[in-house]
Amino acid sequence: MLITPEEALSYLNAGDVVALPTETVYGLAASIAHPEAIKKIYALKGRPSNNPLIVHLASVSQLQQYTKALPPHTENLITQFWPGPLSIVLDAHGIPEEATGGLATAAFRVPALPITQNIIAAAGPLVMPSANLSGKPSGTSPQDLFDDFGDDLPVIDGGERPGGIESTVIHYLDGEWRIIRLGAISAEQLSKVLGYLPLFAATTQDQPTCPGQLYRHYAPKARLQLQKSFSNETGVLIGFSDRRYPSTLELIAVGTTETPYTVGENLYATLRECDRRGLTNVWVDIDLPEGGLWETIKERINKAASHG
Ligand code: TXA
Ligand code: MG
Repeated sequence: MLITPEEALSYLNAGDVVALPTETVYGLAASIAHPEAIKKIYALKGRPSNNPLIVHLASVSQLQQYTKALPPHTENLITQFWPGPLSIVLDAHGIPEEATGGLATAAFRVPALPITQNIIAAAGPLVMPSANLSGKPSGTSPQDLFDDFGDDLPVIDGGERPGGIESTVIHYLDGEWRIIRLGAISAEQLSKVLGYLPLFAATTQDQPTCPGQLYRHYAPKARLQLQKSFSNETGVLIGFSDRRYPSTLELIAVGTTETPYTVGENLYATLRECDRRGLTNVWVDIDLPEGGLWETIKERINKAASHG
């Protein structure tokens, strides 16, 4: 059900979970003052309890209460990218262990959408994982959330699609900033502040830099078949409106090869559309440009295709 900001505030203050829009994807929100509400989020999503949540603040000034040591460049990163889709892993104080998965750190960000900022300013910091059943594409419209959690979930309507791709998560490890989850802010954008290109520290069982990356993610029910060229395939193809494909394929265009931001905005909605149509096999054109947001898009498509 759709609710007003005032109603969202009463739910949060009463220890309930609501869904809020952000500039990236919708989030399932709980107040850090209500550990029982945080547990409800894990239960609702079917999320493993060792996968920590991002703490969302209303403004930079709230940060000093929850963290002590800021690694080099942190203030510049904050000035440049907050409010916005950059989550920064820092040492954490006073964040309930239900949210941190038992880690000594927490990821923090200030989301950019005013309606959600105002709710956080009134309710205090909120944890917000992407609003989707664990393993499914992140929700980018109220309907996505009703599909996953039922019509009774209280949702603030933020429109059809916010930015589409989740925040970039970074962590200062071994003397340098690393990207531990690719996201809406590219390595190139970060390098303008850092003076070097931060590496992507891929999560492995041996090196669980970003616990969420261990789990299957972003996957629709359909089997995605990734290819760089097409000749005599049939069926549905997720591709680009500025490319030519065989007429035997029905094109679902996610944008053009010049518009990574549009592609990012449309990607999850398109994967969910495949599920709504009951498709079992979908082709995906992965002949993508290099660099910037394309690296995030490639990673998401690869994860969506791996049903492991
Ligand atoms: O854009 C976003 O970030 C959205 C919106 C709602 O803000 N939220 C989101 O949260 O994508 P979630 O929970 O779906 O993804 C958070 C990721 C997970 O992969 C988690 O493992 C990682 O961030 N993470 C959170 N805290 C961490 C920490 N202390 N150390 C390492 N990774 C952490
Ligand atoms: Mg998620």
